[in-house]
Amino acid sequence: MKGIILAAGAGTRLYPASQPISKILLPVYDKPMIYYPLSTLMLAGIRDILIITNEADSDNFQKLLGDGSQFGLNIQYKIQYVQRGIADAFLIAEDFIAGDDVALILGDNIYHGFGFSTFLKQVLENKDGATVFGYRVKDPERFGVVEFDRNGKALSLEEKPSKPKSNYAVTGLYFYDKHVCQYVRTLTPSARGELEITDLNKVYLENGKLNVEILGRGFTWLDTGTQDSMLEAANFVRAMEANKGQLISCLEEIALYKGFITPDELENKLERFKGKSAYYDYVFDLINAEKSMQKVNF
Ligand code: G1P
Repeated sequence: MKGIILAAGAGTRLYPASQPISKILLPVYDKPMIYYPLSTLMLAGIRDILIITNEADSDNFQKLLGDGSQFGLNIQYKIQYVQRGIADAFLIAEDFIAGDDVALILGDNIYHGFGFSTFLKQVLENKDGATVFGYRVKDPERFGVVEFDRNGKALSLEEKPSKPKSNYAVTGLYFYDKHVCQYVRTLTPSARGELEITDLNKVYLENGKLNVEILGRGFTWLDTGTQDSMLEAANFVRAMEANKGQLISCLEEIALYKGFITPDELENKLERFKGKSAYYDYVFDLINAEKSMQKVNF
């Protein structure tokens, strides 16, 4: 399975903070925002990743993440020149997807919950079609909204409805089968001139091929689209990390835990960051623990 991170938005709602640099590179507490969605793809076991950026920020993303080999990943980059909507990502990525299954995550979406890796594995087993995730929110009109029948079966999907039919937002993590590019080509742009992800999901729903999984209590999803939600996310990350003494979305930790990279390889790649920050102190402690055979404790 391939993975795509869509990080091309202009982030105008965060101006002036995101004027000189993509919102997705701004920090959420102790690491750039893109670390969070990238960690989600890694937890799903995805190692071939395409990052779609806008033209101005492509170099900055590459400066931060390079070819991904320091995390045992293969990261490539493409540019979305015109804001044609989220579903346009699949047309930009068509050669990269090359007929495989594909996951898409939005660059400003943060997921955190116990056993997420195992949950994703179970969810993706023997599922064809598409899989999306519903999450209860107090302000559904800000999101794509899914309506359920009494048995929890998805009935309808609407993008940012003024009168939402439920409190369940469709979050920004989507898994699709190999038909996705073909379906995107059947979509027409919405009133705001974009190929809407909700319209793509409706195609799967109408074909009886949309799985909607609920992210329940004990699970946190944050969309960092506004100043307030960014601060809320930073406070959340800080509280969790301070409480446990473990980082959230530490890419090197996940790479070690998943066996994407060995402790020795990681140590060599990160030599220049040794002693530089609390984040890297944490990573070097993990490397030392792994080398002395103490397993990383998830
Ligand atoms: C997008 C999607 C929406 C989804 C949301 C999740 O909205 O269009 O369906 O619920 O992401 O973050 P946007 O954040 O682009 O306004």
